[in-house]
Amino acid sequence: MGKEIKMDVNHLMADMVGYQYGISKDMVDGKAHQAKMAWQAVNKARGTGWLGWTELPYNQDEIVEDILETAAKVRERFSTFVILGIGGSALGPIAVHQALKHLHYNDLNDDKRGGPRFYVEDNIDPERMKALLDVIDIKTTCFNIITKSGGTAETMSQYLIISDLLKKEVGENWHDHIIATTDKEKGNLIKLAKKEGFKLFYVPSSVGGRFSELSPVGLLPAAVCGIDIKAMLEGAKAMDKRCKDDEVWKNPALLQAVIQYIAMEELGINIQVMMPYADSLKYMADWFCQLWAESLGKNVSRKGMALNVGQTPVKSLGVTDQHSQLQLYTEGPYDKIITFLRVENFRATTPIAHGCEEFPDVAFLGGKTLNQLIEAEYQGTQYALLRAGRMSQTITFPEVNEHTIGQFLYFYELVTAYTGELLDIDAFNQPGVEESKIASYAVLGNKGEKYLSKQNEMKNQPSSKDEYIL
Ligand code: PA5
Repeated sequence: MGKEIKMDVNHLMADMVGYQYGISKDMVDGKAHQAKMAWQAVNKARGTGWLGWTELPYNQDEIVEDILETAAKVRERFSTFVILGIGGSALGPIAVHQALKHLHYNDLNDDKRGGPRFYVEDNIDPERMKALLDVIDIKTTCFNIITKSGGTAETMSQYLIISDLLKKEVGENWHDHIIATTDKEKGNLIKLAKKEGFKLFYVPSSVGGRFSELSPVGLLPAAVCGIDIKAMLEGAKAMDKRCKDDEVWKNPALLQAVIQYIAMEELGINIQVMMPYADSLKYMADWFCQLWAESLGKNVSRKGMALNVGQTPVKSLGVTDQHSQLQLYTEGPYDKIITFLRVENFRATTPIAHGCEEFPDVAFLGGKTLNQLIEAEYQGTQYALLRAGRMSQTITFPEVNEHTIGQFLYFYELVTAYTGELLDIDAFNQPGVEESKIASYAVLGNKGEKYLSKQNEMKNQPSSKDEYIL
């Protein structure tokens, strides 16, 4: 059995941080019934509707075998593996790779790296595509096109560029360089994949983009890079087991959801800063930001009542951002919770050499380790926030490995689902994102009916005034 990640909410409780800004135990207990209802709603809907992700730790045995077989072939044949995808089709793979592989993975020589070089292209900056093509050899590259909807313009435009290049550079076997991960029925990628004969993996229809990291979306890229995906799924299972109780103080994800709900709804804390004290976890904060923002930022309740809810997630890196953002967190508005991610045992111990004896403030560092220094800085920051009456909490990873990462991913997916229930919103849609997609396609001249009507609507937007442009 893997070691457990632990959530410590001491530093946001009123008896620690002060009653003016903290959350009291009574406030949490007062939400016991609502929490039970939220738990029941999520539990009842497991595996159905948009809650297909709850079953991913349990129902993928065959898929995992297929993934491992495919990953082995990719590792044998290709020098580079590139993901073309965006949002939920990119952030999980980036975060997991950063957490579990060497921090300079692509710079290692082939022997040390032990897998293909790995890139995730999650933007359409024209310079970035050119830059990618400058550093890869397309003839030895495998492209994983990932799009749940099968039609996202960013990803499909990348597909058009790459497939055209492959046809020119590789010739008739160009299809072997593409693996498609998409919905089984909906969208254009599935049709294209079938027509062209690409190797295919499916994102279950009941799993939305930002909840898909434990599906083939995340598992294939992880396996290609040699990550133990079975251990990740075991970690998710272990977290699921820890969240089986409907009592707040016995279910860490439910407690976290209740805390954030109270913070948002009763204390007006509308910002949550995720601050990992480990480079390996820095992109977990990006993954969390999408999950939290897109799921909870809504303007209508499930009963159709107008509201504006959500909490702005912010990524911050310890210790780097102590030297950029911490001043604001310590002395600025009382509108944030800081969530530290802390690692107990790093995979390296780095001693600090002795020296500079004539400068006591430098010399005292000698003989210590960077491990001790980063831990001390985490503790120092946590203390400074407490002293300033600011709320923080800590999730501790005994170590960063497949099992703890699986726990973490599943934990936050559950927290998000429970919080959505507490807020009484649909945490699984993203109409705000769709609106911008339609508007962009309209600008680009898509002739579909909804884009044409959007073009007309957009003609009526206020035109820019020259006086406001300097
Ligand atoms: O969570 C979501 O559904 C979205 O953020 C998507 O992940 C994102 O828009 C990309 O969509 P797709 O995977 O369909 O290309």
